[in-house]
Amino acid sequence: MEFGLVMYTAHTIRKSRGDFAILLSHIVLGCKFVCTAVNKAGLAKLIGLAGETNVQGEEQKKLDVLSNEVFIKALVSSGRTCILVSEEDEEATFVEPALRGKYCVVFDPLDGSSNIDCGVSIGTIVGIYAVKDGVDPKIEDVLQPGKNMVAAGYCKYGSSCTLVLSTGKGVNGFTLDPSLGEFILTHPDIKIPIKGKSYSVNEGNAENWDGQQQSMYVEKCKYPQDGSPAKSLRYIGSMVADVHRTLLYGGFFLYPADKKSPNGKLRVLYEVFAMSYLMEQAGGQAFTGKQRALDLLPTKIHERSPIFLGSYDDVEEIKALYAAEG
Ligand code: AHG
Ligand code: MN
Ligand code: MN
Ligand code: MN
Repeated sequence: MEFGLVMYTAHTIRKSRGDFAILLSHIVLGCKFVCTAVNKAGLAKLIGLAGETNVQGEEQKKLDVLSNEVFIKALVSSGRTCILVSEEDEEATFVEPALRGKYCVVFDPLDGSSNIDCGVSIGTIVGIYAVKDGVDPKIEDVLQPGKNMVAAGYCKYGSSCTLVLSTGKGVNGFTLDPSLGEFILTHPDIKIPIKGKSYSVNEGNAENWDGQQQSMYVEKCKYPQDGSPAKSLRYIGSMVADVHRTLLYGGFFLYPADKKSPNGKLRVLYEVFAMSYLMEQAGGQAFTGKQRALDLLPTKIHERSPIFLGSYDDVEEIKALYAAEG
């Protein structure tokens, strides 16, 4: 059990190898920078559209663009990366040989960006693969199942700036102390409750959902047949915020496939895998409707997948509905 004023840096360097710690410290630098920019956005007129659209066809907001540039620069200058995949860039970035390291980083520089203008919590999501050192990097090095990730995490920019991270040995949460400029260990060894009292889904898409299972699950949440209390609906529309609440309080987050998005909306590498990795490390589960999310083998860097993740027993329920449907 961690006691006292354990800062992120001390905690991480003690727990990880030099190269990896240097990479993580550059990711933390990026988070601190974006946290400051997000907090100032309203005053610095950083909100509002940047006038371009990204590979996802989404209008890019200034903070999306700024966050992407900050993380690309921080990751390249760490000298520990070789391939970078960002939601905001159509192609992967191959780091020049002089600055190349052995890690591939997949990231969503600003998740939940449709919520920027109204001040709802948004965040950065990161997943990290290690590649065979010294071999020229190729795109297949990032098209690996999520179970091969060596670390994953997110930073939530909201009432507090919270970094939640796993390096494969459980999940820890760190909160930024602005007066120190350091992330302090505030949530050691996070474990998600085995069952939750809430479900989190955009029910506005229900008409288009691609199967009965999710509708049956949501009906069970609203009108339980076993005398248990109905679950609460909690949906923010910012994955980092919805997943953070689910991780701490328990519950179930789902973004099913639907007629508009036949593979679902959320991106496999830097949303589905990273959040599924954290869920499993915290004792929860993550399921795609067909398989364990971390077993998925992506073929394209911006591939999407349906995702059902959260408390272990809650995910078991939807898996049972899919199994029954055969
Ligand atoms: P991003 O802002 O990085 O493009 O991600 C938005 C995602 C995710 O944050 C959230 O869970 C989901 O979009 C919400 O989608 P709907 O508005 O369709 O519910
Ligand atoms: Mn986006
Ligand atoms: Mn996102
Ligand atoms: Mn994004």
